[in-house]
Amino acid sequence: MSTSVFGKVHLGYIAIETQKFSEWRRFGRDAVGMHLDDVSADAMRFRLDDHECRFLLRHGPAEDVTTLGWQLDDHATFDTILARVRQHGVPVVEGTDDEAALRGVERLVRFPGPNGLTQEVFTRARGGEAPLQLAARGGFVTGAAGMGHVAVTTTRPHQLRGYFNTVFDARLTDFIDETISGLKFKIRFLRVNERHHSVAIAAVNRMRLNPIRTRVQHLNIQVAELDDMTAAYQRVRELGFRMALGVGQHTNDKELSFYAVTPSGFEWEVGWNPIVVDESTWEPTTYQGISIWGHSREAQPIVEKFAQFKTGVSSLRGDEDVVPALAGAGIPDH
Ligand SMILES: [Fe+2]
Repeated sequence: MSTSVFGKVHLGYIAIETQKFSEWRRFGRDAVGMHLDDVSADAMRFRLDDHECRFLLRHGPAEDVTTLGWQLDDHATFDTILARVRQHGVPVVEGTDDEAALRGVERLVRFPGPNGLTQEVFTRARGGEAPLQLAARGGFVTGAAGMGHVAVTTTRPHQLRGYFNTVFDARLTDFIDETISGLKFKIRFLRVNERHHSVAIAAVNRMRLNPIRTRVQHLNIQVAELDDMTAAYQRVRELGFRMALGVGQHTNDKELSFYAVTPSGFEWEVGWNPIVVDESTWEPTTYQGISIWGHSREAQPIVEKFAQFKTGVSSLRGDEDVVPALAGAGIPDH
């Protein structure tokens, strides 16, 4: 038994593969309000804070998130996690110097994750040299809570919980039951630090069906001030990007947020003021529905609906890779 790494793990960066650099520039800098750095013809980055890189965009056909980078508090945590992965027979690979430089970290190691999402871990991030230029003037909440969260859809939710428990000692925060487009979903919210959740795992109840094409259904970043959330909402609209869900408030973490559709097709949540978990008193519960109010779904183009249906049907045949060596038997919901 190794000591728990809970609380020492923070979502540190996210890598995206896309061909749509000019749209992403407008989306990330002009609409969401992040700091943009053009690194080369093949790479651009967004900053949220003093870290040199919070989002790394590379040219490629995936139009998806490909990698989650986790910042670890110290070398002992780094060694503990790598030992766990290796002990389960899963190979870890040292990133090259170029890869580390692109991600703005001193050193990184990668290993496979569920749903095709590569996992990377690092301890030290480089500081960005240029002064931060954010349209969100109050800045973003990162620090101990990490940079936000990701939500994934899967046909193997219990195995995903097993994976994040084995690797990061993730704890279950709570559940939400919700019906979306006539399908009953259960969403499991996992935390690895004080943030209510760093990973949300959604699955259709009792059916091996996944209607979402991308590895990440949405990602979330948190602004420090409410005005920056409403201003970002207005910029997203004014610049002509599609809104997936209007402004609303979540039932479980009480976050106020909206969801825009990124140029790559997955969704991007900008949120404000989620609750922070107090470990001494927290008890997991189940909420009915994702929202107390708002988050109304904007009309979805019919071609997208049809694409989602096709993705759902093909997921019934496909066998999703959950990295079984690390997922183990999985963790049931009750
Ligand atoms: Fe979210």
